[in-house]
Amino acid sequence: MNILGIESSCDETSTAILSDNKILSNLISSQDFHADYGGVIPELSSRAHMQIVKPLVDKSLKESNLKLGDIDLITATAGPGLIGALLVGLTYAKGLAFSLNKPFIAVNHIEGHIFSGFLMEEKPEFPMLSLVVSGGHTLLLNVKSFTEIQQLGTTVDDAAGEAFDKVSKMLSFSYPGGPKIQNASKNGDEDKIKFPVAELKNPYNFSFSGLKTSVLRYIQKNFSDVNDILEKEKNNIAASFQKAVVNALMQNTERALNNYDVKSISLVGGVAANEKLRNEITLLSKRYDKTIIIPSLEFCGDNAAMIAFRGKSLYEAGRQDSLNVKPYPSLGENYFHAG
Ligand code: KG4
Ligand code: ZN
Repeated sequence: MNILGIESSCDETSTAILSDNKILSNLISSQDFHADYGGVIPELSSRAHMQIVKPLVDKSLKESNLKLGDIDLITATAGPGLIGALLVGLTYAKGLAFSLNKPFIAVNHIEGHIFSGFLMEEKPEFPMLSLVVSGGHTLLLNVKSFTEIQQLGTTVDDAAGEAFDKVSKMLSFSYPGGPKIQNASKNGDEDKIKFPVAELKNPYNFSFSGLKTSVLRYIQKNFSDVNDILEKEKNNIAASFQKAVVNALMQNTERALNNYDVKSISLVGGVAANEKLRNEITLLSKRYDKTIIIPSLEFCGDNAAMIAFRGKSLYEAGRQDSLNVKPYPSLGENYFHAG
């Protein structure tokens, strides 16, 4: 079975083709121009997706040595994400499904990330403890099968990636902030400043808003202007902040490992590219004698291969979507939830 995947939820247009489990193509076109504005501008994002989506699908087909008629299943991200951006990829995919008379699956972007570990050579085993860390979401999940996802915890305010991006802005680094903070941290002392880790009623929930505010307070208290912060000091702030985020993520993951009998652990989403986080969760998994699956960098950030894979797993579970599916901005109810 040849599956076409289209992803356009935020600032990456991506198209992929899977032939059963083999990735024939996974093209990612990043909209780097948002960096000039310090964040993603939704309208500019939609326009850029519109220009690139068809040429990118054509390129994926060419790279895979396939024609449109060889595609058996069409999948696209329906949400969560920017409505205008989602609309572009989703509408294009629905148009293809209609004209080719092929089945269509509308994929939840977060579910795409959750199962992205299956794109790796070594596959996760269920039940799988999944830590999803992206720009918009932070979730701790007990994934029992392809159709049973139990949510243990979520963020009560900012997502981990969002916190990286906001602190990066405070230090006048460019967008996206995660990679900038990681690089600055390499030359910093992570024990220099003690930033707090939130303790919440639900031991699996996360909160990064207080941490973000304490970084801001620290900067305001110690420097009259961001331009006065020496590079060495910026590196220390970045490293201490990064340590606090990773500690918060690891603390809840360890709690879940103590209470849920899982076979594997998977770290996914854009922030899963973070080296310190990758190292710490690998150490934790060794301590608990669990298999750890972390996608390679290409599959941590937004990509269409994970959308095609998720679409395929739903199709195999018997799902097929109507072409009336509409895009949705937030995770809300649109989530494969078993409770
Ligand atoms: O999953 P993703 O590509 O897009 C969303 O679905 O949100 O995640 C993007 C997020 C951004 O906040 C970005 O700053 C963060 O992932 N990120 C990182 C790193 N690389 C990307 N955060 C920390 N360390 C990194 N190396
Ligand atoms: Zn994402």
